[in-house]
Amino acid sequence: MKAHIVTLPGDGVGPEVVAAAVAALKTVAARYEHVFTFDEQLIGGAAIDATGQPLPAATLAACQHADAVLLGAVGGPKWSDPNAPVRPEQGLLALRAALGVYANLRPLQVHPALAELSPLKNEKLGNVDVLFVRELTGGAYFGTKTRTADAATDECRYTEAEIERVVRRAFELARGRRRHLTSVDKANVLETSRLWRSTVQRIAADYPTVKVEHQLVDSMAMLLLTQPGRYDVVVTENLFGDILTDEAAAIAGSLGLLPSASLGEGKAGLFEPIHGSAPDIAGQGVANPVGTILSAAMLLRHSLGLESEAVAIEHAVDHVLRHGPRSRDIGGSAGTREVCEAVLAAIEDHADHHAAFFHGSRACG
Ligand code: NAD
Ligand code: IPM
Ligand code: MN
Repeated sequence: MKAHIVTLPGDGVGPEVVAAAVAALKTVAARYEHVFTFDEQLIGGAAIDATGQPLPAATLAACQHADAVLLGAVGGPKWSDPNAPVRPEQGLLALRAALGVYANLRPLQVHPALAELSPLKNEKLGNVDVLFVRELTGGAYFGTKTRTADAATDECRYTEAEIERVVRRAFELARGRRRHLTSVDKANVLETSRLWRSTVQRIAADYPTVKVEHQLVDSMAMLLLTQPGRYDVVVTENLFGDILTDEAAAIAGSLGLLPSASLGEGKAGLFEPIHGSAPDIAGQGVANPVGTILSAAMLLRHSLGLESEAVAIEHAVDHVLRHGPRSRDIGGSAGTREVCEAVLAAIEDHADHHAAFFHGSRACG
């Protein structure tokens, strides 16, 4: 197939990890006979430096015409003055809103070979397989902001329609998995959470095979650490989802491991690791590319419908996490490029193996 992919390397380690994920996509394209075209555009601090805007009009237009968008990270100390007129993160938020990607899927699995790196005891880690569905285009991130010399407000606003579409997506995902949905809110305090909870309760009637539970976000933060294996799909609002998924990444062993897919109504989506620009290690070539490479696998699955190709990348990453090389954050000493090359080799091996298997079964048939 033909696909047009816009890449947004952004800031800090963003360009390093996006280069690795693009290499994985190019290897897949060559092995599976697809034609992927790539168009690199500016976002974040890099875009502010070049144009004054964190999301230049040319970038947005390119993204709106793409089959999928692959993003690294935005932000960093250079643009983090609290009095700065414009911030890199505004570019990412504006892009998510403009693309209408309201459902942010953040899967958490703990790789058996990395269990030792988790702050949790090994016996808690068996069967951890959680899909977070984070609402991505509403809530406190997008409400009206006010600021005077000595006071500030961030309005947290949700409409029922905004809640309903992401909750329906979560129910559908739960129906295709272990049929257990946990809705996380703060309904004991927040009005938006009470609307959230009553919307979940109403929609639950349409999904009778899915078991629904409601959990307050503070105790959820605790339960994620004490009983991570009991969750299947977790749906929550924007800010709670942001915080809980960094906690989830710690359970997996490193923030550098977790991918994400941000989806709206169509097939096109925005794919990015859940980590940021990692200013402390940027430019050193040591960032873990796995979260971004797995985001490329999600891109193949969700935007391009290429399930076998997505699995090829996931198997390759699985192989490299088992046998190395590993980056520093997960106990190794390899650089980004070395990890990337090992993943590319494992994609080739996976494709060879499947070609041989297919050939063999034809010969037998
Ligand atoms: P961060 O995720 O950038 O880094 C937190 C810690 O995790 C750091 O020690 C970093 O070295 C480590 N880390 C992150 N990714 C890693 C990787 N791939 N490999 C190895 N280690 C990795 O969070 P932060 O320091 O709080 O934020 C830095 C900047 O990134 C801020 O400007 C923030 O707004 C931005 N940010 C952007 C995104 C995004 O673009 N989607 C996401 C989160 C944070
Ligand atoms: C993330 C990041 C972003 C968010 C920031 C950079 C706007 O933390 O993708 O998780 O809070 O959504
Ligand atoms: Mn975050």
